Amino acid sequence: MARPILVTGGAGYIGSHAAKALAKAGYLPVTYDNLGHGHRAAVRWGPLEEGDLLEPARLDAVLRKWRPEAVLHFAGLISVGESVENPGLYYQHNLVASLNLAQAMRAHDIGRIVFSSTAAVYGTPDVVPIPETAPMRPLNPYGASKAMVEAVLADFGQAHGLRSVALRYFNAAGADPDGETGEAHEPETHLIPLALDALEGRRGPLTIYGDDYPTPDGTCLRDYVHVSDLATAHVQALEYTGTCEAGTSAAFNLGTGTGYSVRQVLDSIGRASGKTVPVRLGPRRPGDSSALVADPARARAILGWKPELSDIDMIVQTALAWISREEAA
Ligand code: UFG
Repeated sequence: MARPILVTGGAGYIGSHAAKALAKAGYLPVTYDNLGHGHRAAVRWGPLEEGDLLEPARLDAVLRKWRPEAVLHFAGLISVGESVENPGLYYQHNLVASLNLAQAMRAHDIGRIVFSSTAAVYGTPDVVPIPETAPMRPLNPYGASKAMVEAVLADFGQAHGLRSVALRYFNAAGADPDGETGEAHEPETHLIPLALDALEGRRGPLTIYGDDYPTPDGTCLRDYVHVSDLATAHVQALEYTGTCEAGTSAAFNLGTGTGYSVRQVLDSIGRASGKTVPVRLGPRRPGDSSALVADPARARAILGWKPELSDIDMIVQTALAWISREEAA
């Protein structure tokens, strides 16, 4: 039988793409998801165990049943704005939930974890592209909760020999090129799906949050990385946790090293669709940095990770194909 890997949040956007990549690599992804934001239909590559990380008894039963050799930990809340309004929710569902998971792994003698972290741990960087050695100065409870979990995992490494990898995603975007899974957040806050909705008239014009940043066209630069490339990185990180020394805790940026402005993304949508995204100019969004671009050299050197699908036009084309298919269904 394929080797089971527990995938918390496997019914979500990045988790479902990673489940597909795991299955392709010969593992059995066992999704553990409370379906609060995830989708039952996104669990296609292995069993679904409904449950919450805040229910230790349920988690214990699932670990006892499947005996996974490692965990990919995606489950968590992801909205920066919501985290500012309701920090307790974020510390509960991101920090406490992850601590429960680490404790349960210890009880079941599971010694390897790959954790979904974020570029938000850096806050406003002094240097762009951002290396992993940049100081962690998160600007909001979302980023802070992720940085805290990184620290928890490192401490479990020191004390108990846990092997952990934190993958710091930059802007995850795009959809499975085969159209088997994609992005479906509720509510949606991300640029590309919002712009595609505006394009098709499913909502009003896209608001560009400020065009007076110190960037070539005045709009913010972000490092968009294809979700299937992120999925590949998880399989590589999982394999790394199988070979690194006990107690290792490593962090890797996952981005391409190239920034695109909001207007460049909208231009790409124009090329893919043959239409123009209707826009209006709004004020800056609080908390936005002008430029967040990864230095991805470490992931390349140590994990052997190389983005293959993260060209901006490929990202936009796959996102557009996914949304069009969903609308037609
Ligand atoms: N943007 C707009 N209009 C919109 C939505 C977004 O102009 O309606 C702009 C934003 O200002 C930003 C860019 O598009 O410059 C991308 O915004 P997203 O909301 O898609 O993504 P963020 O860069 O804000 O967020 C991403 C991740 C978060 C993570 C953050 C790190 O989605 O999980 O990077 O700072 F916390």
